[in-house]
Amino acid sequence: MDQTTDARSPLAPLRRYWHPVEDSAAVGNDPVAVTLLEEDLVLLRSPGRIHALADSRSEASGDAYRAEDRYGLVWVALEDPVADIAPFPEYADDGFRSYLSVRSAWNASAGRFTENGLDVTHFAWVHPGALGDRDDAECPAISIDLTSYGFEYAYSRESLESPFAAGGRTIRSRTMHYLPFTRRRVLSSDAGHSVQFVTASPTRARQCKIWMIESRDHHLNDPIKPYIDFSRALLEQDRRIVESQRPEMLPVDLTEELHLRGPDQVALTYRRLLADAGIADV
Ligand SMILES: [Fe+2]
Repeated sequence: MDQTTDARSPLAPLRRYWHPVEDSAAVGNDPVAVTLLEEDLVLLRSPGRIHALADSRSEASGDAYRAEDRYGLVWVALEDPVADIAPFPEYADDGFRSYLSVRSAWNASAGRFTENGLDVTHFAWVHPGALGDRDDAECPAISIDLTSYGFEYAYSRESLESPFAAGGRTIRSRTMHYLPFTRRRVLSSDAGHSVQFVTASPTRARQCKIWMIESRDHHLNDPIKPYIDFSRALLEQDRRIVESQRPEMLPVDLTEELHLRGPDQVALTYRRLLADAGIADV
């Protein structure tokens, strides 16, 4: 299999992971062009199967890559994947209602995008009134466990009224983080469970595509538009921060950004695991 991504590129180790590249519904019999890790691909569907090929306009080969249809997204791995596509059991669970809430392209690295979502301390500052309160920005006690796929962390906090809280008072937040760029967050309250499946793929070093799919087992007959609008507004608040972060690539040399301590232990864990997996500056 040819390797278009420069072997010296920080993106090269990411060829061994599954990445989301397009909405399943956007891919039919006609080729759809996408870019993954600076490599131009075409996606197309034949009966019962999805295919990902090197774009013949950029390379003389028609190499086929692994492609899978999962959770309404097309996933591609450019080399033998070292991990499975992140699980999302609620998506196929009849007790949950699932829908795509956000699809976007950011001028930010996938690492920066992903780390922002792990930052427990930013809710009060970036999302005041929605996810946090500036008068009560104290960080909850967080437990972190390393897992075969990455890590998970959990904490409880009092909630503001939000679609995620769904009328519950105390939210228990449990996040499963799948290396490199996917997380599944389960928010549990008296009302039930709200799940956010958030994933990103690097199109180029400083650009990524992102998706957020939500599931919930409560308020099943509510219109989904207010939920979608809420999530989109939050991510736009995040985008303004993340797209202006420097350096643009996430430093995994832990001496480079010295403010990592205390509540930043989740980000610290993330960076350390990326480094352990041979992934740097993404
Ligand atoms: Fe945020």
